Amino acid sequence: MCNKHCNLFFFILLLIFHLLSSQSLSLEFPCKPPRHTNYPFCNTSLTISARARSLISLLTLSDKLHSLTTNASSIPRLGIPPYQWGNHALHAATTFPQVILTAASFNRTLWYLIGSAIGVEARAMYNVGQAGLTFWSPNVNVFRDPRWGRGQETPGEDPMLVSAYASEFVRGLQGASHDQGLFTSACCKHFTAYDLNKWANFTKYNFNALVTQQDLEDTYLPPFRSCIQQGGASCLMCSFNQVNGVPACANEDLLGLARSKWGFQGYITSDCDAVATVYEYHKYAKSPEDAVADVLRAGVDLNCGTYMLRHTQSAIKQGKVEEEELDRALFNLFSVQLRLGMFDGDPRKGQFGKLGPWNVCTTEHTTLALEAARQGIVLLKNENKILPLDRGFITSLAVIGPMATETKLGGDYSGVACSSRSIYEELQEFTKGLLSISYASGCHDIACQSVEGFNEAIQTAKEAEYVIIVAGIDTTQEGEDHDRASLVLPGEQMALISAIADASKRPVILVLTGGGPLDVLSADRNPLIASIVWVGYPGEAGGKALTEIIFGLVNPAGRLPMTWYPESFTNVPMSDMNMRADPSRGYPGRTYRFYTGTRVYGFGHGLSYSAFSYKFSSSSPSKISLYTSVKADKLLLEDVDHVLVDDDMQDCSTLRFEMQVSVMNLGDLDGSHVVMLFSRWPNNNVLEGSPTTQLVGFSSVHTVSYESIETSILVDPCQHLSIADEKGKRVLPLGNYTFTVGDTHHTLSLQIY
Ligand SMILES: *[C@@H]1O[C@H](CO)[C@@H](O)[C@H](O)[C@H]1NC(C)=O
Ligand SMILES: *[C@@H]1O[C@H](CO)[C@@H](O)[C@H](O)[C@H]1NC(C)=O
Ligand SMILES: *[C@@H]1O[C@H](CO)[C@@H](O)[C@H](O)[C@H]1NC(C)=O
Ligand SMILES: *[C@@H]1O[C@H](CO)[C@@H](O)[C@H](O)[C@H]1NC(C)=O
Ligand SMILES: *[C@@H]1O[C@H](CO)[C@@H](O)[C@H](O)[C@H]1NC(C)=O
Repeated sequence: MCNKHCNLFFFILLLIFHLLSSQSLSLEFPCKPPRHTNYPFCNTSLTISARARSLISLLTLSDKLHSLTTNASSIPRLGIPPYQWGNHALHAATTFPQVILTAASFNRTLWYLIGSAIGVEARAMYNVGQAGLTFWSPNVNVFRDPRWGRGQETPGEDPMLVSAYASEFVRGLQGASHDQGLFTSACCKHFTAYDLNKWANFTKYNFNALVTQQDLEDTYLPPFRSCIQQGGASCLMCSFNQVNGVPACANEDLLGLARSKWGFQGYITSDCDAVATVYEYHKYAKSPEDAVADVLRAGVDLNCGTYMLRHTQSAIKQGKVEEEELDRALFNLFSVQLRLGMFDGDPRKGQFGKLGPWNVCTTEHTTLALEAARQGIVLLKNENKILPLDRGFITSLAVIGPMATETKLGGDYSGVACSSRSIYEELQEFTKGLLSISYASGCHDIACQSVEGFNEAIQTAKEAEYVIIVAGIDTTQEGEDHDRASLVLPGEQMALISAIADASKRPVILVLTGGGPLDVLSADRNPLIASIVWVGYPGEAGGKALTEIIFGLVNPAGRLPMTWYPESFTNVPMSDMNMRADPSRGYPGRTYRFYTGTRVYGFGHGLSYSAFSYKFSSSSPSKISLYTSVKADKLLLEDVDHVLVDDDMQDCSTLRFEMQVSVMNLGDLDGSHVVMLFSRWPNNNVLEGSPTTQLVGFSSVHTVSYESIETSILVDPCQHLSIADEKGKRVLPLGNYTFTVGDTHHTLSLQIY
């Protein structure tokens, strides 16, 4: 469906398109006939590497220097126009929910389709000269600290979940279903241990993340490995921070690991100005030239910023950098552009040439944005089944809170939406003619520094039969360069919520916005607040999806992809990168895998209007024998109770098994449901620092009221059951594993014989 704004948007796009196509010479692409087509780098019969090498052979040193920066200059002599490498979001496009909410759906298909839709819109805009094809998404740093302003951009705190999201999104964005070439290019960022903008004396520019080998292996690396190996990402971005004393972009071990061990093929870009920081903030290099030499040696191919443009020539003069090192970087860069078909001539004549502005904001994409919000929204509390409301039986509704009328619901880095309506507008629309609806903001804005508006809001609430309060945080409270200091609601928001709850005729419904976890323990315990719903940043269709959930058209199924900590967690230094708890110094650990303190809501929490029961099917294996499946020489026996998983065994596909679980919907409403399979390690065989429990797989299924459905979850023991020891080596404990879904258990014995 296209509303007024959306139609206007279409009209403008079509106008742009007509202008461009009527003067098509102004649309510049490399190798576009009639000029500049005779170079071998334009010859599509040659291999990508032959074409890349040929192009590099035609470049002067100055051309090369101007090609290693994100704002790459034109090379008119060769018919190459300028190119912007860094594309975060399109100028205008379908605004999907922010990633943290999309992750809450635990639905791989959805993640793939969203990646794919963004890819289509990018191609469409590229074909008319309005966008690049190289994207700096996804952000796959684990959401380690609840204060982090960019946690909203990530798929949450669990490495397995983040890994699954990364590979699906990247495959979608890069067009894994196309036979050849890259549809668009995706970038795994920020490699690695990056998730602090500013805390105490630390900023992202100077922070040295001290990370144990154990945490590196089982928390900070896996999402990147998956993004590269399963996703096939063609870009990797190194982060600002140091990892154990070496700036990530100058970290040969780290970048080398990706390139040689994980088989990364693509280009490595620095985060923006993360070459300059190697010298200017970290003082790791002694001069700008040394910084350039260090990052090139470590494997960086592209500098976001102008530092390499300014200092590489003198680095060469000083003998610190060889021109061949630039050629290597250029080879990686041009190879990705060639794989994207950027040197194949007029893109409108190529394999994706039919895409144009009419493929942006299509019904298909806006429906997908709606679907994503429906699937991601999490019902945190629902006492006495106050939700869903029945619009046929209600006479009046009051909506309170400054977020209720906000129309920008996309979070960080979102562009201009195809259409956007606030939560209040959607509620109005849905109840039009059926009940009276009123609104009061209560607070002037999200910061809510004053109680001036309280009386009006209380009065409005008093007069209504049901009350919905929309509170929470937005991008004025969290974002890039903006970590939070507190986890409680800003300003007087909680006071407003309590006052409204006290004054209302019935227990109220509280809707929370924002990406980061909130300490809303008092609301959770308050019997006058019957329901709490978290909508994250739900995107352009978020208001509609929420309305459908409130009125029971959609049965909520989202599950929290991160722990919600109490305010006391802010005593933990944000700079402490340890995942594991350390009672000796009062350190509580991080994420559901290690955190030992109390929580407001746990990882995976999320209610439905139905209850569910589970049963492991008898076809689920209860015994796996390694000996029969793995060649004996691959088993490096450390001692009798665990097996070392060496590099060749990272993926022991022959040992994979499926856990079959049947789910029964015990409610009156059909709905999606996420089956989350957790594992506990053999009791007799827990290594120092093992998590007590860990997600090993999940599956999202459709359930029908009072019916059961079977689903299977694939488990690869080497990937999902192995754990990192203190040296960062992966081992697979032998013995009896306990798998759980909800409160149902299944034992599986993993043995050698
Ligand atoms: C492109 O390369 C092929 C294979 O080397 C060659 O046969 C052909 O002549 C080349 N085409 C042009 C236009 O140079
Ligand atoms: C890119 O470079 C061109 C000239 O080389 C300059 O005019 C332009 O401002 C630059 N753009 C950005 C975003 O740095
Ligand atoms: C920040 O720096 C000040 C002055 O150098 C120092 O006294 C303080 O301990 C530092 N704080 C932290 C948390 O490192
Ligand atoms: C997963 O997402 C896809 C795409 O939106 C949807 O078609 C499918 O129904 C979803 N699965 C479940 C169980 O909700
Ligand atoms: C594992 O479970 C089996 C069957 O339940 C039991 O016989 C065996 O003793 C258990 N092994 C260990 C090490 O606990």
